Amino acid sequence: MKMSAATKEILDLNRFDARRTEGFPADLAERVARREASFGASSVLFYQQPIEMVRAEGAYMYDVHGKQYLDVYNNVPSIGHCHPRVVEAIARQASELNVHSRYLNRVVEDYAEKLLETFPDVLSNVVLTCTGSESNDLAMRIARTGSGGDGFIVTESAYHGNTALVTEISPSSLRMRRPASFVRTVPPPAARAGVSVEDSFAASVEEAIRDLQANGIKLAGLIVDTIFSSDGIYADPPGFLRSVAEIVRRAGGMLIADEVQPGFGRTGGGLWGFMRHGVTPDIVTMGKPMGNGFPMGGVATRPDLLKHFCQETGYFNTFGGNPVAAAAGRAVLDVIEDEKLIERSSVVGAYLKQLLERSRNIHSQIGEVRGAGLFVGADFIDPHTGGPDVGLTTHIINEMKQAGILIGAAGKFGATLKIRPPLCFSKDDADVFVGTLDAILIAR
Ligand SMILES: Cc1ncc(COP(=O)(O)O)c(C=O)c1O
Repeated sequence: MKMSAATKEILDLNRFDARRTEGFPADLAERVARREASFGASSVLFYQQPIEMVRAEGAYMYDVHGKQYLDVYNNVPSIGHCHPRVVEAIARQASELNVHSRYLNRVVEDYAEKLLETFPDVLSNVVLTCTGSESNDLAMRIARTGSGGDGFIVTESAYHGNTALVTEISPSSLRMRRPASFVRTVPPPAARAGVSVEDSFAASVEEAIRDLQANGIKLAGLIVDTIFSSDGIYADPPGFLRSVAEIVRRAGGMLIADEVQPGFGRTGGGLWGFMRHGVTPDIVTMGKPMGNGFPMGGVATRPDLLKHFCQETGYFNTFGGNPVAAAAGRAVLDVIEDEKLIERSSVVGAYLKQLLERSRNIHSQIGEVRGAGLFVGADFIDPHTGGPDVGLTTHIINEMKQAGILIGAAGKFGATLKIRPPLCFSKDDADVFVGTLDAILIAR
């Protein structure tokens, strides 16, 4: 994509603008006004005419008027909305015991062991939290004590969460300023003029390390979302993180894999996105799909790193790893295994990508199609200039809504369609989605 459009803040993509409610039905206008009155400036709603959702099942959601929507957006209910096994596990545990994590409890301990079995042997400790932001905040602090450094490297449109510390490594959240002085940003991993993806990403990270050092800042770590979601989804070729992992370690830093988006089978090549790249991170962070909607997160790391951190700082998380969360998390892992969702993500994802490639050959407005498993990005471009077409992307998102399909955008300019359905998405669902996309592009 040629770079000429204005960059977009991640929370502004497909965002409702409260100043534009003309033409709204009276009841919707009133609901929106009430919402804005309570939540104020922090309120974020999707679509210029927000939707009131009341029910969901599998890959479908239903609004207050009974309209059905195919969900091609949501990765929180990753194994399917309201999965009966998760609902049952939550209800059963809530009726038996729910409390903080300072008592022995078999459900919690069994879950921690089961989760850790999914990681490389060296990552044998886990801290359970409530959100991805908390997980990344803790990961940064562990990386700092473990490395003795302060500096972090992130991609230029990364989003890693909402705490004060994590906002500094989330350039896509910063509206009015650049990240803090201990942060360096690098372009997302794409091939550049005759240079491979792996080499160009490695060169950018090396340069960022040199720049930190030149300013007297020692590296604490490189933190990457291993599918680069908010940067616009960069998955291929598998293995492109190998060189940066070595470079970061040589500089004394930690490799932190943020698995909040790609984790729990989404990329189709294993449970974790970092596995596609053949690297073992020092720290892995988890969130969103971990409880299929029940709020939970976690940090998996090496015992020596966690010990070092805990010697310096006490850490306690009241709700992290509570028994209901553990029951939900356990049900998620079991369903992924029993319903073979990793294979499904791989097979249906490959089919979806194939359909999109076919559309790309017909419609010159579709630029690159990238992704792995059921996380695919499609760039929309102005065929004359090759530059990102944000207007067209927004048009598609809104037309899809009319047609009963939920979809969103990502990337520096907000011109990449972010295709990330629950993992129970079927080939038929993929046909419906791409068929609708074709019809929208033909009608434009
Ligand atoms: C890659 C990534 N990391 C971390 C987070 C933060 O997670 P949470 O909103 O649960 O705090 C997000 C949220 O969108 C994310 O996309």
